Amino acid sequence: MGVVQVREFAWDDYEAVVALWDSAGLTVGPSESVEGLQLKLERDRDLFLVAELDGRVGGAVLGAFDGRRGWIYHLAVDERHRYQGTGRVLLNELERRLRARGCVKVNLLVAADNAGVVPFYERLGYRSDELVFMEKWLERDFASDDEGTASLRVRLATDDDLPFLAAMLVEAAYPPWAEPKPTPEEALADPRAGR
Ligand SMILES: CC(C)(COP(=O)(O)OP(=O)(O)OC[C@H]1O[C@@H](n2cnc3c(N)ncnc32)[C@H](O)[C@@H]1OP(=O)(O)O)[C@@H](O)C(=O)NCCC(=O)NCCS
Repeated sequence: MGVVQVREFAWDDYEAVVALWDSAGLTVGPSESVEGLQLKLERDRDLFLVAELDGRVGGAVLGAFDGRRGWIYHLAVDERHRYQGTGRVLLNELERRLRARGCVKVNLLVAADNAGVVPFYERLGYRSDELVFMEKWLERDFASDDEGTASLRVRLATDDDLPFLAAMLVEAAYPPWAEPKPTPEEALADPRAGR
């Protein structure tokens, strides 16, 4: 085996890493797009690792820590370099970093059609558990970040809000059958408006 150097992912690695995942049969979907990975890197950049083999990307793993559990995603080693200890080196380094963050348990999921990889994880101390995996995709538009996250904002009212607030007071203070309804100005002057 040549020299293996494990280091954090850098954007220059992106195409090589995607090609590696693709050739290893791992999903390359929205979460692995540039936007998806940017979101991941904002959170824990130091857990996305690549293995350089003789100066080229030959392995990668996407680790995550949610504050409770560590997670392993998308571990792959170039087919030409398997069974030489690279997968172990990547996982050992990821586990070391997770431990340093206070993580006490690491989880991972193996696709049903990829059961051949289970003995590899067992060699590294992982055990299977009888769990039912459930999932739900949340619609998300990576292009409009603000709209996606800021649905509720609270701020102090200003004078500009008065017409809208007065109209709300009319609706709240007068039942639908109250005729005639006061204008917003009349409503603001009405003592019932303060109820
Ligand atoms: C799984 C994978 C990352 C392993 O990488 P690797 O660099 O070949 O693994 P290592 O050489 O570090 O193997 C560590 C140990 O596991 C053993 N091992 C590796 N793959 C194995 C397999 N498929 N079955 C049984 N044992 C395996 C090795 O012989 C070694 O044993 P040792 O402790 O006696 O030395 C690689 O096979 C891969 O990229 N697979 C395709 C992608 C994939 O399925 N990823 C997992 C998604 S959940």
